[in-house]
Amino acid sequence: MYRDRKCGEVSESQIGNTVTLSGWVFRWRDHGGLIFIDLRDRSGIVQVVFSPDVSEDAHKLAHTLRSEYVIKVRGEVRRRPEGTENPEIPTGSLEVYASELEILSKADPLPFMIDEPKEISEPLRLRYRYLDLRRPEMMRNLVVRHRVTKTIRDYLDREGFLEIETPMLTKSTPEGARDYLVPSRVNPGHFYALPQSPQLFKQILMCSAMERYFQIVRCFRDEDLRADRQPEFTQVDLEMSFVEVDDVISIVEGMLSYVFRETLEIELSTPFERLTYRDSMERFGTDKPDLRFGLEIAEMEDLARQGSFKVFLNALEAGGRVKGVLGKGLAGLSRKEIDLLTEEAQSYGAKGLAWIKLRDGFDSPIAKFFPEGVLKAMADRLGAEQGDMMLFVADDEDTTLDVLGRLRLSIARRQGLIGDGFRFCWVVDYPLLEWDEEEGRFQAMHHPFTSPADMDIERMLKEDINDHEGLSSLKAKAYDIVLNGYEIGGGSIRIHRADVQRKMFELLRIPEEEAQLKFGFLIDALRYGAPPHGGIALGLDRLVMLMVGADTIRDVIAFPKTQKAVCLLSNAPSPVEEKQLKDLHIKLDIIE
Ligand code: AMO
Ligand code: AMP
Repeated sequence: MYRDRKCGEVSESQIGNTVTLSGWVFRWRDHGGLIFIDLRDRSGIVQVVFSPDVSEDAHKLAHTLRSEYVIKVRGEVRRRPEGTENPEIPTGSLEVYASELEILSKADPLPFMIDEPKEISEPLRLRYRYLDLRRPEMMRNLVVRHRVTKTIRDYLDREGFLEIETPMLTKSTPEGARDYLVPSRVNPGHFYALPQSPQLFKQILMCSAMERYFQIVRCFRDEDLRADRQPEFTQVDLEMSFVEVDDVISIVEGMLSYVFRETLEIELSTPFERLTYRDSMERFGTDKPDLRFGLEIAEMEDLARQGSFKVFLNALEAGGRVKGVLGKGLAGLSRKEIDLLTEEAQSYGAKGLAWIKLRDGFDSPIAKFFPEGVLKAMADRLGAEQGDMMLFVADDEDTTLDVLGRLRLSIARRQGLIGDGFRFCWVVDYPLLEWDEEEGRFQAMHHPFTSPADMDIERMLKEDINDHEGLSSLKAKAYDIVLNGYEIGGGSIRIHRADVQRKMFELLRIPEEEAQLKFGFLIDALRYGAPPHGGIALGLDRLVMLMVGADTIRDVIAFPKTQKAVCLLSNAPSPVEEKQLKDLHIKLDIIE
């Protein structure tokens, strides 16, 4: 027997009893006569004491213990002498006096210590991920992740969802990133694509009358990686029949409330706030607004028109926008610091940054272009007070909103204005289509199976494919869910009418043969009795990252990849044997 209880479970009620424990040597101290070690297993830590008075053999062997040796000890649970308790850990008032010690496994000197805080470089952590995962913080992240998926399964099961697996070796899906391809040995020159999401299959499951489907599923996207993006990541994917937007939203709110209650003991307040896409863009400059602080972007066009500042007037003349954001507490910035802020705005794409400090009146090179009353109105609108600075961007609409949205975040970070807690919101009423300048055609904003809003369906069916304005104004039954400035999920009500789907492909300029080639199996399935349906996918990694307060999704994934999509543990990807390629009928000719 290796153990009769876990380290973290040793408790006062066992004082005087003999226990058997197994685990890793976390910290060790040799105090001359006594040797102390902190013994660690997944459940926690307990102090073990080796004293020659209890066992000479165990004490002698304990001299040879080093960090991360795996040992088994047997000993009596005692109360620690007064003044030596450790209130930081649950077993802090106890210690185990070892009468027996067995070394189960030795450990080489470690590349880094398990109890060291953050400073270890990430490449080193990823190379020795098994050691990194022993760190209590990482262990907790994986425990929370497990509890989240467990509670999601419990909730969805209760709500009548079936967990159904869909293929990993499949065809390209319409999520729009680059595919990971897998060559087929038995079909020379043919490739599978790893799924970017189970989108097509889950809709087919609705056509199969499954009514409620979910899957906690790996998705693969070959895209530029960031802190919140991995080439393979996990979605909580669901799809429902006979539903409208509100039904999907209410299932997700119920699920998240349950998950937060069961895993973090936090009560979320529902329903979550809802913002239209337009509103979110105008007020926060993004469709993933962080609502934990204010600093909303304000309209300045009417006020700009009452002044004579050419930069503003020219932007408006050219059909652009003038908007502003509050630089809370920034009136003290030096010229040099303002230059840096301007450079920051330029790095986001702005041509420049106009500013007005509120310090003994309005202090700014551009103040002279505006009557006093207009300056006051600007301050009112932004909520600017003495000690603040007003910041303005004049540019085309996309640039103006994007730059101010990023500045808003950056100012809030710099000034410490971001509050705690979990602020969810839904972004709804997305445009159906989005103009793609490069390709010179419209793209689906969500994906080509997303339904237009009810009131737009008849208009959509009659739309001319060249009517830019008409097409831009079509709305979709699509929704995103946002938490603390991160998009944690997105979905839509789907098209279930053949005529609407045909029109959608026409508007996207996808020829019928191409649509048939790519998505034919779904288009066919929609012809044999398709229920109205819709769904959503949540990014599980992002959700858990926010729940545990990690900075990157890599910290909540057991074996993540680096920015260059490399697994430093296994060294994937790697070259393969000539023979393997030959079997696959593949000859390499690498184009740099
Ligand atoms: P979407 O493409 O919006 O929708 O993806 C859903 C959610 O998945 C997460 N996510 C990612 N997480 C980590 N790394 C990535 N590379 C990554 N890409 C996406 C995000 C995102 O909100 N089939 C549709 C869903 C539907 O319509 O039902 C879909 O995949 O949190
Ligand atoms: P200029 O007239 O170019 O000297 O610019 C005067 C001020 O307006 C400077 O502070 C610039 O940074 C700022 N500015 C220039 N272009 C823009 C713009 N597109 N939006 C906002 N401010 C700008």
